[in-house]
Amino acid sequence: MKGNFAMNPAAARLPIAESFLIQQDWSIYTPDQHAVWAELVSRRMPQLEEHACAEYLDGFDQIGLREDAIPNLAEVNKRLGPRTGWNATSVSGFLPPDAFFEMLAARQFPTTTWLRKRESLEYTPEPDIFHDVFGHVPMHAHPVFADFLQEYGRVCAGLIHDKDKLERMGRLFWFTVEFGVIRQKGEIKLYGSGLISSHGESTHVINRSSEGGPEIRDFDLDAVLNQEFLVSEMQKVLYAVESFDQIYEAAKEAEHRLT
Ligand SMILES: [Fe+2]
Repeated sequence: MKGNFAMNPAAARLPIAESFLIQQDWSIYTPDQHAVWAELVSRRMPQLEEHACAEYLDGFDQIGLREDAIPNLAEVNKRLGPRTGWNATSVSGFLPPDAFFEMLAARQFPTTTWLRKRESLEYTPEPDIFHDVFGHVPMHAHPVFADFLQEYGRVCAGLIHDKDKLERMGRLFWFTVEFGVIRQKGEIKLYGSGLISSHGESTHVINRSSEGGPEIRDFDLDAVLNQEFLVSEMQKVLYAVESFDQIYEAAKEAEHRLT
């Protein structure tokens, strides 16, 4: 374990993000909302069992996510905290960059608490609890990924006044945390939350040769920092890592390249 999470994450000071923090009131979710969650999970799991990376599937079990109920973040954190020191912390919505990076550097993942409606099972323009918890949080149980994400937040916090450098760091986030893939036993496996939480995006990657899906290149930090992307379109290029150590080292190396 490279990171130091001896401090209690819940007690970490977040002077910038503080005004965005909210409490999740789990008791107000309706049976229909829990049913929407169950439907979302049951739509994704058959594909993920075959195509998600092993670390995601392990993390899903380790943090006790349920297929039939919206996650209670307090329960998730009771399991996640002792493993890596990460905490899924409820926030009111999109955070400005300085608050977002402050939270990552403190091992607190900003997590929305609302859930998409049944009419938009496949896509929401803004992240909801399905994208944030189902898509992101299982990977935070993996020690190296956990260290990478904290390091990423720390490096970005140090670049906060340089828009151009932050944009380049945003590409590192996009091609790892959101749309990352990894080679395991000779196959491409998914770990980015934008893939994990989207059936359409994942299918586009899995069936890439028949559906004109993305070209998969070997991960290269310089290439990623220079790779523009469109949020609103299916991805045309993705970068495959060989191990999660590679992205941890990339976050550290990015600091040298950009400062
Ligand atoms: Fe995300």
